[in-house]
Amino acid sequence: MKTYTSNHIVFFSPTHTSAKIARAIGESIGMGRRIEIDLTTDENSSPIEIKDSITIIAVPVYAGRVAPIALQRLRRLKGNNAPAILVAVYGNRDYEDALVELRDETIQLGFTPLAAGAFIGEHSYSRPNMPIAEGRPDVTDLQIAEQFGKDCLTKLEKDETLSDFYLKGNIPYRFVGPSTPAAPVCTEECFACGECIEVCPTHAIALSDEGKIETEITKCIKCCACVKECPNGARVFDTPYTPMLHQKCAARREPELFI
Ligand SMILES: Cc1cc2nc3c(=O)[nH]c(=O)nc-3n(C[C@H](O)[C@H](O)[C@H](O)COP(=O)(O)O)c2cc1C
Ligand code: SF4
Ligand code: SF4
Repeated sequence: MKTYTSNHIVFFSPTHTSAKIARAIGESIGMGRRIEIDLTTDENSSPIEIKDSITIIAVPVYAGRVAPIALQRLRRLKGNNAPAILVAVYGNRDYEDALVELRDETIQLGFTPLAAGAFIGEHSYSRPNMPIAEGRPDVTDLQIAEQFGKDCLTKLEKDETLSDFYLKGNIPYRFVGPSTPAAPVCTEECFACGECIEVCPTHAIALSDEGKIETEITKCIKCCACVKECPNGARVFDTPYTPMLHQKCAARREPELFI
């Protein structure tokens, strides 16, 4: 086996579930040097060269596809044939064509896919009174992620040329039309601390001259990072998807691994 002395952990993860899975896999791989690249709020476009490093790439699923903004951010990566472990994290509804899309995209970026996994994360639209996959990934999910990392390493040791592997999903990918612009709003409990401004991946939130929080609705990707990070519960996103998914996606789904 070629010698790898480092591994990269790359993710776009507004509500941290993709990041948790990526880190669990990275820890089990246990290379001497681990480099984390968090693209969530990073709008920089300078290239990121990855060489001779096992690379974990984790993204959330939006509408059965890779979140479009995650794809945009990933395009900075230059894979230089590095082996990649691909991860799509979804909110217990379905991941549909996201893994196939992520595989195709990472090949374009110069990576050699080694394996892929679909994991479950608490849904962005989950609320305490209407939970959807609340608390996922949980201890069991993280144990599965760690074992997956070990199995990927074993595959890499055995399989010099990295043979193709089966992946669930379709080409052409599921069609996703434009969605109606919408964004979370602040309630009267907002004390303009600015935490939501810091975590917004698209910099859609700003503090006005009058000291009020304002959101540029057309920039919002509805990721709900601001809702989940607000220390005062003062940021709300009222969407009919929350009760619908709470009702229809209650049955626990389990991670699916392709190696
Ligand atoms: C706009 C949008 C669309 C989503 N579409 C899906 C979907 O099609 N299927 C699903 O199961 N979860 C969907 N989710 C939920 C996320 O995939 C899930 O919460 C994921 O854990 C978020 O990842 P993050 O914590 O890394 O941000 C969607 C979330 C958002 C914000
Ligand atoms: S994080 Fe919450 S309290 Fe702070 S500015 Fe944003 S909405 Fe207001
Ligand atoms: S304003 Fe929109 S894009 Fe920004 S953190 Fe909130 S939901 Fe995400």
